[in-house]
Amino acid sequence: MAGSPVATVVPPLAQSVQEMSVNGNEPPPQYFLKENSIQPMDSYLPSDPIPIIDISLLSSSSLSSKGGEEELQKFKSTLTSWGCFQAVGHGLSSSFLDKVREVGKQFFALPVEEKEKYSRATDGIEGYGNDPILSENQVLDWSYRLFLRLQPVDQRKLRLWPENPTEFREVLDEYGTKVKIIMDVLFKAMAKSLNLEENSFSSRFGERAVMQTRFNFYLSCPRPDLVLGVKPHSDRSGITVLLQDKEVEGLQVFKDDKWFKVPVIPHALVVNLGDQMQIMSNGIFKSPIHRVVTNSERMRISVAMFNEPEPEKEIGPVEGLIDEKRPRLYRDVKNYASFNFECFQKGVVPLESAKI
Ligand code: OGA
Ligand code: NI
Repeated sequence: MAGSPVATVVPPLAQSVQEMSVNGNEPPPQYFLKENSIQPMDSYLPSDPIPIIDISLLSSSSLSSKGGEEELQKFKSTLTSWGCFQAVGHGLSSSFLDKVREVGKQFFALPVEEKEKYSRATDGIEGYGNDPILSENQVLDWSYRLFLRLQPVDQRKLRLWPENPTEFREVLDEYGTKVKIIMDVLFKAMAKSLNLEENSFSSRFGERAVMQTRFNFYLSCPRPDLVLGVKPHSDRSGITVLLQDKEVEGLQVFKDDKWFKVPVIPHALVVNLGDQMQIMSNGIFKSPIHRVVTNSERMRISVAMFNEPEPEKEIGPVEGLIDEKRPRLYRDVKNYASFNFECFQKGVVPLESAKI
């Protein structure tokens, strides 16, 4: 979503989301869903909920077992149809996942002035705050974010990494390292499921692949019928790993013209593919459209980790996935982050613009 730096062109709103949430004030129309957006607000409760996959069965050593082969088939069909799943068997303890959510919540509970020490610069991407407002027509998200780059390590802007709570940086660093290991397993499994050499995807990301995190904070909202926490979007990443709130739902995925709730499974990690995997897989795997709805009672937190190729590396459909039956769908692109942002500004869908 976020992209290259651009100055804010519209003056800030009179009241912050935090003030409106605390006071129960009616949000201004800038937050209201547009009539023509993908409706309706109430989601269809699916009979086939988003799949659960045991990723311990997808590691190289397990894949040769019978359980491994079956799970790999399920993994492949899930990525082809949904583009997302709930991952269990990821090896991270529940207490550690609680800690990650907890440091996020503790940061968000700090006084506004304290959080603002880590504010996103008007022309920057990283740091704490709301999305930049780039046009008067933009529908605003009912959320706060803390967006930080973890890798390459020498690009960390530590001055934007909270020092309060004191263990914030350490927990985030450890979480990033652990999620990266999971992403590596997923890259290999994706390649194997398509009968490709196991590094076919991961090698495209380069030595200095990017890893970023976004802590999302969604406050209770007096008008959940009209206001979204995050508008419908697909992620620009390769892979996104999302730690959901332990109790409060909100995430929904769009499939077969319906919105599906992603239920809370406290120890699971939601994995969804981003646009760059859809491109590299020549459209075989999906980068799902998703959104976050608001609720009038409780705050919700989530922590997303995104990986991306080195910006200068050109990515495109992997050779082995292009043939007469499945001609090349996408052209080569580089710096998808900027490309994505330019598309967003022009109001065009990035994946459509990358088509041949
Ligand atoms: C995101 C996102 C979903 C959520 O950060 O890109 O889609 O549940 N988050 O917060
Ligand atoms: Ni997203």
